[in-house]
Amino acid sequence: MIKTKLMEMLGIKYPIIQAGMGPYSTTKLAAAVANAGGLGIISGVGMGVCKLLGGQKFMDYDPKKSPAQNMREAIHYVKEATQKSRGIFGINVPVAVEFREISDELIQTAIEEREKDPELVRRMKVIITSAGNPERHAEMIKESGVLRFHVCPSPYHAKKAEKAGADLVIASGHEGGGHVAHEPVHSMVLIPEVVKTVSVPVVAAGGFCDGAGLVAALALGAVGIQMGTRFIATKESDFLDYYKDYTRNLGDVRNTIVARGVFGRIRYLKTDATVELYEMEKRGCPDAEVADFEMKAIQAIHFGDPKKAAFFGGEVAGRFSDLPTVKELMERIVKEAEEIIRDKLPKVVA
Ligand SMILES: Cc1cc2nc3c(=O)[nH]c(=O)nc-3n(C[C@H](O)[C@H](O)[C@H](O)COP(=O)(O)O)c2cc1C
Repeated sequence: MIKTKLMEMLGIKYPIIQAGMGPYSTTKLAAAVANAGGLGIISGVGMGVCKLLGGQKFMDYDPKKSPAQNMREAIHYVKEATQKSRGIFGINVPVAVEFREISDELIQTAIEEREKDPELVRRMKVIITSAGNPERHAEMIKESGVLRFHVCPSPYHAKKAEKAGADLVIASGHEGGGHVAHEPVHSMVLIPEVVKTVSVPVVAAGGFCDGAGLVAALALGAVGIQMGTRFIATKESDFLDYYKDYTRNLGDVRNTIVARGVFGRIRYLKTDATVELYEMEKRGCPDAEVADFEMKAIQAIHFGDPKKAAFFGGEVAGRFSDLPTVKELMERIVKEAEEIIRDKLPKVVA
């Protein structure tokens, strides 16, 4: 049986974190992952976009609801949906400067809800921050007693997160979906270097989807994996069916593209729209024009035409085509990893 520090810290059955995947909702997915024995994560960033856009509609979010109200509802949904399994979950909030006010509101709300409810103190164990300065909310999170993980794209950022009091860092390689760093460092180089740089536990992210990946992460010194793209294509995930299908039918690990992001760069699945986004930047189109095109393409996932849509997604989408339940996926990954460690690896030692 695989047993790691991550499982011990959180009291979870599998060393697997489901990544926060704003701007999309992962509330149902978080409940399914928590019920199946991993760490389920509610995604925060989409909850605040209507407010950022001055009250315009964004995705499925109701512009009349505040970020705080969206966060409260998501937390209570996951709490109820995981009551029987007593599953463990958390929230993710990117803390980029562009989202400063929103991230303050979301983190503050989550902490307040947790403090009011002993059941949440027991089971909503983690706040994962990402994409920004780890110092900003450090004191508030520490005082609340909730564990704080921070997502980092380099050993430099991991050290900063550790200094700011992170209990664990998630090292996310450039092959991952969604926001990626300007300087591309991929998981194989990033993870062992982050492990060497910090003394807190490290979780590996970026490109993971199977048991071999989990074994590799453990071999590189990590205490578990965080997966985003792989979890999109699961039966219970909140993503639209055609987003799930586009992800699992990508067919080739070359079919992603890195282009402009709301903050930093984003790895998208290749579509006509994301290739055009990339080309617009190369042609030197004004930033406001590119930003407008990007926002429309992100929202276009609701119109059902994959060519016009910008789907966030990682290279690993080219490595799978099935649509398992969350439970099937996590059981398979851990079983495969155990078989590799127990049966295959000993045979390569003379
Ligand atoms: C659709 C999508 C949305 C994402 N949004 C966020 C986010 O809101 N916050 C965050 O910390 N990371 C976000 N990420 C990055 C993930 O947290 C994670 O680091 C990455 O998915 C790992 O690589 P993988 O996609 O190869 O599994 C997103 C990833 C995807 C695929």
